[in-house]
Amino acid sequence: LHRQGLQQIKEAHEMEKLNQIRVQFLGKKGPLSQALRGMKDLTAEQRPKVGALANTVRDDLQEAIDQAKKQLEQKATAAKLATEKIDVTLPGKKRRLGTKHVIYQIMDDIEALFIGLGYEVVNGPEVEEDHYNFEMMNLPKDHPARDMQDTFYISDEILMRTQTSPVQARTLEKHDFSEGPLKMISPGKVYRRDTDDATHSHQFNQIEGLVIDKHITMADLKGTLELTARHIFGSEREIRLRPSYFPFTEPSVEVDVSCFACGGEGCKVCKFTGWIEVLGAGMVHQNVLENAGVDSKVYGGFAFGLGPDRFAMLKYGINDIRNFYLNDVRFLEQFKGE
Ligand code: PHE
Repeated sequence: LHRQGLQQIKEAHEMEKLNQIRVQFLGKKGPLSQALRGMKDLTAEQRPKVGALANTVRDDLQEAIDQAKKQLEQKATAAKLATEKIDVTLPGKKRRLGTKHVIYQIMDDIEALFIGLGYEVVNGPEVEEDHYNFEMMNLPKDHPARDMQDTFYISDEILMRTQTSPVQARTLEKHDFSEGPLKMISPGKVYRRDTDDATHSHQFNQIEGLVIDKHITMADLKGTLELTARHIFGSEREIRLRPSYFPFTEPSVEVDVSCFACGGEGCKVCKFTGWIEVLGAGMVHQNVLENAGVDSKVYGGFAFGLGPDRFAMLKYGINDIRNFYLNDVRFLEQFKGE
C-alpha cells in the first residue's frame, strides 16, 4: 500500500489527480482509516505495531502529497511567468505629440527672462472694467486717445481689455512699497475691434512690464528692453527709442529693433529704414501713480507693453498674423520648440 501510494503520487501531474489520491489513500473511507478503525479487533500486542506502521505510512504519504503539490504550484507559476513575459526590446507605438504654440514659446521665454531678473508674474482679467482699462490709466471717458484702441464693449462699464496696462493699475493699487519696489510683468490676451487681415487681429497678446521704485530712470528702461530684444533676437541686435505718445507714460517712446532677415509686411518697412517697431514704453505718468494712491513725488518708474505676436512674426518670418489662431497643424508643427 505504501509503495503503491508513493508511486501514484509520483505519476500525478495535476492538482486534481493529487486530490483524488489523497482521498483514496488518506480519506475517511480509505484503507488506512479502515485499518485504524479495525484496531479494536486486534490483540494488545498487535495494536501498537499496527498503529505505528499505519501512522508512518499515513505521514509518509501526506508528506509526499504536500511535496508534489508544491512542485506543481511552482511549475504553474514558472509557466505563467514564461507566457506573460514582456519583450522590452520590441519597438513601442509612437504617440503623436502636439507642440507648444509658437506664441507661448516666445511668451514663456520672455517670462523666464524676467523671473530671472526678479520680476513677479501677475495675471489680470480679460473681461475688464472701463475703470481699470482706461480711467485709472489716465484716459477719462472723453479722452481722444481712447480712439487709438477700438474697443469691444460689453456694457457701458465692462469691456474686453484692449491692453494689458489695466494690470498696472490693479497691481499698483495693492502694492505695499514699505516691503520693497514693484517689479512685475503681466502676459495675456487683449482684444480690439479690428478687421482681421495679415497684420491685424481682433485678438492678440501683450506682455506688460512695470517697475516702480525711488530712483528709476529711462536708462533702466532702455537697458531692460535691450536685454529683452537681444534675448529673443540675438546678441547683435540694437534698439532705438523714438518719442511717442501714450496717455499713461510721460515721456513715451516707441521702441524699434535693428533689422535682420525676416519675411512679411513688417520687413518691407524694415528693409527701407533698417529698423522695425516692436513695443511701446515710457516713464509712468504721475496721474497713473496718484490714481492708484502712490505718492508720485517719492516713487516713479517705467512701463512697457510688448507684442509677442509681433516678436514671433519677426523672429520666424511669419507674414500672416492669422496663422496664430487658425490652428492649422501644418503651421503649428513647424515650431517644435526646444
Ligand atoms: N498699452 C500700450 C498699447 O497697448 C503699450 C504700452 C504699455 C505703452 C506700457 C507704454 C507703456 O499700445
